[in-house]
Amino acid sequence: MTGEVQVPIRGETEVRRAVLESTRFAQETGFDETRSRMIATAVSELARNILKYAGSGQLRLRRVSSSRGAGVEIEVSDHGPGIADVEAAMSDHYSSSGTLGMGLPGVKRMMDEFDLHSEPGRGTRVTARKWVDA
Ligand SMILES: Nc1ncnc2c1ncn2[C@@H]1O[C@H](COP(=O)(O)OP(=O)(O)OP(=O)(O)O)[C@@H](O)[C@H]1O
Ligand SMILES: [Mg+2]
Repeated sequence: MTGEVQVPIRGETEVRRAVLESTRFAQETGFDETRSRMIATAVSELARNILKYAGSGQLRLRRVSSSRGAGVEIEVSDHGPGIADVEAAMSDHYSSSGTLGMGLPGVKRMMDEFDLHSEPGRGTRVTARKWVDA
């Protein structure tokens, strides 16, 4: 059971692989089926955003521990156009591409900790954590 998994995100095949890998990784960390699926759904949304807005990027899964116990950290990063208005992007129903606009706010709700860092013109990085015992 290694503490870190990396999946390059370049197309649909890799998104599907990322979903499977993150489900397995979460279950190995101690998450039950329902909460493992939440982590995999978060990964799916973030990876699909990479494909849609940045073209390609990287997913990293890490096992973390703190005073809150054991958990999983998702980090997705890309060198795409970035997000000019992060507050708008984080609000329900905001989409620059005419879809539901529930991806990022949904991920924030499904995870315990959420951090989005974006520099317009340089890229986007989202780090999110979920704790087994939260
Ligand atoms: N990796 C990214 N690079 C650049 N812009 C992004 C990235 N991820 C999200 N965005 C911007 O943030 C907005 C909100 O993202 P979110 O995932 O919530 O909604 P969506 O992708 O538009 O719709 P949905 O995910 O519901 O299909 C996007 O419309 C897009 O403008
Ligand atoms: Mg989205």
